[in-house]
Amino acid sequence: MADCTKAHETRAQGAAAHDSLEHGAAPAAATPHTDWSGFGFETRQVHAGEYPDLNTGLRVPPIALSAGYVFDDFDDQVDRFAGRSIDPIYSRQGNPTNSVAEARLASLEGGSSAVAVSSGQAAISSALFAIAQGGDHIVSTASIYGGTRILFGRSFKRFGIEVDYVWDAADDAEWDRAIRPNTKAIYTETIPNPRNDVTDLSRIAEVAARHNLPLVVDNTVGTPALIRPFEHGANIVVHSTTKFLTGHGAAVGGAIVDGGNFDWEAAERAGRSYPLITDVKPGLGSMVDRFGPGAYARATREGVVNDIGPALSPFNGFLLHQGLETLSLRMERHVASSLEIAAWLEQQPEVESVDYAGLPSSPLFELAARDYGLTADGAGARTGSVFGVTVRGGIAGARAFVNGLRVFSRMTGIGDTRSMIIHPLTSTHATFAPEINERLGITPGLLRLSIGLESAGDLIADLRAGLDGVAAVDGVDGVG
Ligand SMILES: Cc1ncc(COP(=O)(O)O)c(C=O)c1O
Repeated sequence: MADCTKAHETRAQGAAAHDSLEHGAAPAAATPHTDWSGFGFETRQVHAGEYPDLNTGLRVPPIALSAGYVFDDFDDQVDRFAGRSIDPIYSRQGNPTNSVAEARLASLEGGSSAVAVSSGQAAISSALFAIAQGGDHIVSTASIYGGTRILFGRSFKRFGIEVDYVWDAADDAEWDRAIRPNTKAIYTETIPNPRNDVTDLSRIAEVAARHNLPLVVDNTVGTPALIRPFEHGANIVVHSTTKFLTGHGAAVGGAIVDGGNFDWEAAERAGRSYPLITDVKPGLGSMVDRFGPGAYARATREGVVNDIGPALSPFNGFLLHQGLETLSLRMERHVASSLEIAAWLEQQPEVESVDYAGLPSSPLFELAARDYGLTADGAGARTGSVFGVTVRGGIAGARAFVNGLRVFSRMTGIGDTRSMIIHPLTSTHATFAPEINERLGITPGLLRLSIGLESAGDLIADLRAGLDGVAAVDGVDGVG
């Protein structure tokens, strides 16, 4: 956590004194520790990033609603603006509440540091704007969230950053053809939304390393409870924290996590250029000189987020660090219900197919089991809770299915406590050319499900009611 107020640092120093005590030898009224490295995932999701409030003793890190910070004196202000002090100037750059969420998420992902921003789209944009500028190029896998494809095809294009897609991530020749001298990053998702067609990250990481490129991975649908992309060779992770991380569908947010494992200077020596990260400022040095493994995150915070301004409200930052405390528990339940429901769906006569890599019948199951592991009962692999189901009857079948549901919410959104459904072809993918949708498998009968935390039996009963509607139209309409 590179960014904190002076007061925050003072408090952190107090905690560091406690850290020097042996575990178990802490005083009865334990002040929170600051170093949680070496502790288990469940411990870190509760504690990492918290700081002791020496003024009030508050146990839960509070919401720091302040737009700015007091300078100690005239020279402190001069130093902060000159970049000689990294203490913050303004909450657009950083905020103590958001710092808790940032440090907690960095710890869970196994990264060096993180930057919280105002949405998942802001995270993707900021992450890539720190690396690429007008005239540059990015290569992405083809199966990604529709909103990201729109972002790349519209705003990135307008800003002069071109994005090309690789359709078969296993085909080295396709990667080699797509990557150019002005390519600056490879972009992918762990569990692509909407079809749960899990990505072979270590294979893509090999391609990225061979071409001296950072690998940027959207881990929104995976979450660090199921997969940690840095362990598979990724260099930067982005999140829509709106989803599983905050967890309750109440707050839009995003985050960028720096793996601290990409050698920006070596990439430059090999012919790439990353000026925001490696350019030397007189008297200060480069971001790499100053921040080492946190150079990329710091460059993103100072050089993109502070300029463009997608700051996360501390209120939403609070909801994010609260949500993270129960992440692993919620993900286990999301996965268990998803497997039960996916297995049930594939047996239903009104269902043409189910796209869930965790099902033993999926062509991606071997990869899913390797990277995500099996559930405790061995019933399947832990590939999250966002997946596709294709019903018979095309658009008419999809309409009857959606309209017959009560527990599932008809809405855009994934990854919170409630179950949700949407028809991608007429929503997230509505603006794409028919041949792109056909290639992506976005067909008239495809629905995206996000399985929530309700009773699995109630969800199955609800889906059965929807499928009864499909049975009534199937064979009559026959569209698709
Ligand atoms: C995989 C993925 N990435 C990014 C986003 C965008 O996030 P946000 O809605 O927080 O901007 C979404 C939204 O659905 C998503 O599913």
